[in-house]
Amino acid sequence: MPTPARLHVAHALHEVFGERARVPDIWDRDLGEDAHLAQALLGLCLRRWGRLQAWVKPRLKDPDRGVPLGTQVALAMGLAQLAWLPGVGDHAAVHEAVELAATRDLGFAPHKGLVNAILRRAAKDRPALAAELEALPAALDRPPAARRALEAALAPHGAGHGASLGVGDELEALWTRLQQPPRPAFRSLRGEAPDGLAPDPDLPGCLRLEEGAPFPRPWLESGAGMVQDRSSQALLAYAWDRPVARILDACAAPGGKTTTLALRHPGAALTALEVHPRRAARLRQTLQQRGVAAEVIQADAAEWLETTEAAFDLILLDAPCSGSGTLQKHPEWPWLAHDDLPRLTGLQRRLLAAAAERLAPGGLLIYAVCSWLPEEGSAHREWLAEARPDLRPAEVWPASLDAPAPGGALRAGFRPHPLRWEGEGFQGFAVARPR
Ligand SMILES: C[S@@+](CC[C@H](N)C(=O)[O-])C[C@H]1O[C@@H](n2cnc3c(N)ncnc32)[C@H](O)[C@@H]1O
Repeated sequence: MPTPARLHVAHALHEVFGERARVPDIWDRDLGEDAHLAQALLGLCLRRWGRLQAWVKPRLKDPDRGVPLGTQVALAMGLAQLAWLPGVGDHAAVHEAVELAATRDLGFAPHKGLVNAILRRAAKDRPALAAELEALPAALDRPPAARRALEAALAPHGAGHGASLGVGDELEALWTRLQQPPRPAFRSLRGEAPDGLAPDPDLPGCLRLEEGAPFPRPWLESGAGMVQDRSSQALLAYAWDRPVARILDACAAPGGKTTTLALRHPGAALTALEVHPRRAARLRQTLQQRGVAAEVIQADAAEWLETTEAAFDLILLDAPCSGSGTLQKHPEWPWLAHDDLPRLTGLQRRLLAAAAERLAPGGLLIYAVCSWLPEEGSAHREWLAEARPDLRPAEVWPASLDAPAPGGALRAGFRPHPLRWEGEGFQGFAVARPR
């Protein structure tokens, strides 16, 4: 039987390539020490899936015949270990992949011999295998959805914006950046941050893990700190000095931004909505553990907003979205089905329209998505400007987040340059309701 770490990786790959579904957040729970190997292996298989399959193809007897997913998974895992994980011995990489191929649910037993033969040959010269895989075009690992996300990420900034790169080079550079596993960012909520966390020089309040420092799990579990991506931190560093007494976080779980809102506006009454019961329960628990006072309501935000009479001085609508901006953290993103974009954009617009209705005079509405796709952000902004001319763009973010701007100018759109900004791909905008 393959080790639990490899079984978990195989399960995750079947989920992505069989079901076109996301890797569940807690897929590597209970793996203990082996979680590192599993994470590295899954990341390699997802990020280089196209090249791994292309390398195998000419080595098959009948390259034009479809290869069962069980065989693809066993081969990809075996090859990835041989090529890029030097700490894994030849025997473990080959033998476990062959065992995997023989399992009923995750493999394809008739191909056990084929998997064995291909991997044994590949194991004879691991550096050559790595070189051959690296020499295949990187574009093989980019299905159309990935290319679309990259183009959407770069488009608003113009070709070669401020750099000597052309459009194609920028796209390659961005793809290369997104293939590196992300470095987490943190925020301290109370007390001293533990050793190993250093201030981010460009983002006040943001903490980064120093090279070689242990992941601060006990600190996070105690509720004294949280993981929060740099883009989320920059989004919530909006400049707003009008009074804020009532805040609505319309799509709140897992609660990172709710926590920051509470820290930024102590004393304000904070309402947090979340539609999914389990996520709402976890949100309640997390906020309690962090000492954040908020009323958590499990509800569909659109329905709730359309029926409430409450008005808010600050509304954050961190809307559900395709997550195209998170493909560095979620390397499976390019391979997902992406068939729910029309539902998502419809929901985003409904949420936005309803949130705009509940903005108190003098209030601020911030809309954001962790996606680069224009239909999830800039299109809604244009629509709102037409539908609600009474709301004014609110200039609350530095004109250029990723480079110093003259005179501290501000703007009403949030859109860090994907090549000059280290953080998730976010876009957002802010509008205010005049008094
Ligand atoms: C982008 S996430 C929010 C992340 C959160 N603001 C944070 O920073 O921790 C969007 C959340 O909205 C929730 N959601 C999706 N549809 C919703 C709806 N109709 N009403 C309320 N919440 C919704 C999702 O379950 C998800 O937890």
